[in-house]
Amino acid sequence: MKNFLTSMFYGPINHTEFMDGLELAGNQVKSGGVFRADNLFTLGKSLGFLEDEAFMAAFQENSKHSDPRQQEMNQSIIWRTHVLSWAAAGGLNLEGDFVECACYKGTSAKILCEYLDFNKTGKHYYLYDLFQHEQGMDHHAMPDHGSSLYDYVRQRFVEYPNVHVIKGAVPDILQTVAPEKIAFMHLDINSAAAEIGALEMLFDRIVPGGILILDDYGWIGYKEQKEAEDPFFAERGYHVLELPTGQGMVIK
Ligand SMILES: C[S@@+](CC[C@H](N)C(=O)[O-])C[C@H]1O[C@@H](n2cnc3c(N)ncnc32)[C@H](O)[C@@H]1O
Repeated sequence: MKNFLTSMFYGPINHTEFMDGLELAGNQVKSGGVFRADNLFTLGKSLGFLEDEAFMAAFQENSKHSDPRQQEMNQSIIWRTHVLSWAAAGGLNLEGDFVECACYKGTSAKILCEYLDFNKTGKHYYLYDLFQHEQGMDHHAMPDHGSSLYDYVRQRFVEYPNVHVIKGAVPDILQTVAPEKIAFMHLDINSAAAEIGALEMLFDRIVPGGILILDDYGWIGYKEQKEAEDPFFAERGYHVLELPTGQGMVIK
């Protein structure tokens, strides 16, 4: 069995001692299948996505970064990206388009486009983001935010004419452009108010069987999102499945 080993763990008081402990624990398992990344440590698991050649090719190609730490962070979310790939692939058999609020550099969307050969699907993919951070804005700054990010992301999808890269604040921008039917939706805004706004606009448009992935749902650091989203879904008769990756999943 393959292992997947990184040092991306957030929160330990002494990171070196913590990693030494995980190393020691992993070495106790002769079967392998050790996953160590993104605050997730598993032993003796199949990790089948590591054997999926199309997924791994798309993932490795698009998670490159010139900064080694950013590259390791990109790598560390492989299991989350596998979840997205699985959910989006399920959406291919349904009516409706794909949505991502918000896309940042477009990395996960690009992986999905390559993995699913998106140009052959006949679907549209709507990617929203502010692409920059200015003082006074609600969301937190990210390293590649800036005036050129929007053009960078548009260029990244130039070979995918049905991918629409849209600059604007969610939820307001959704009034201007959004699909009528949605087969797969990824919410990753890191903001409870913006995510609830997006859900109020778009949740009803997800078709039966369509899958919604909430990137931050289970992370304690973003607990405001869970606290806002649980009542939203309860009112509509849904209950979010919290995944070990920190994502939440709802099947419509
Ligand atoms: C964690 S990143 C998204 C990463 C991306 N989903 C991926 O998989 O690579 C969060 C993004 O949310 C964007 N954002 C925050 N508030 C927003 C809002 N109200 N409207 C649009 N984008 C927003 C930020 O600009 C940032 O790029």
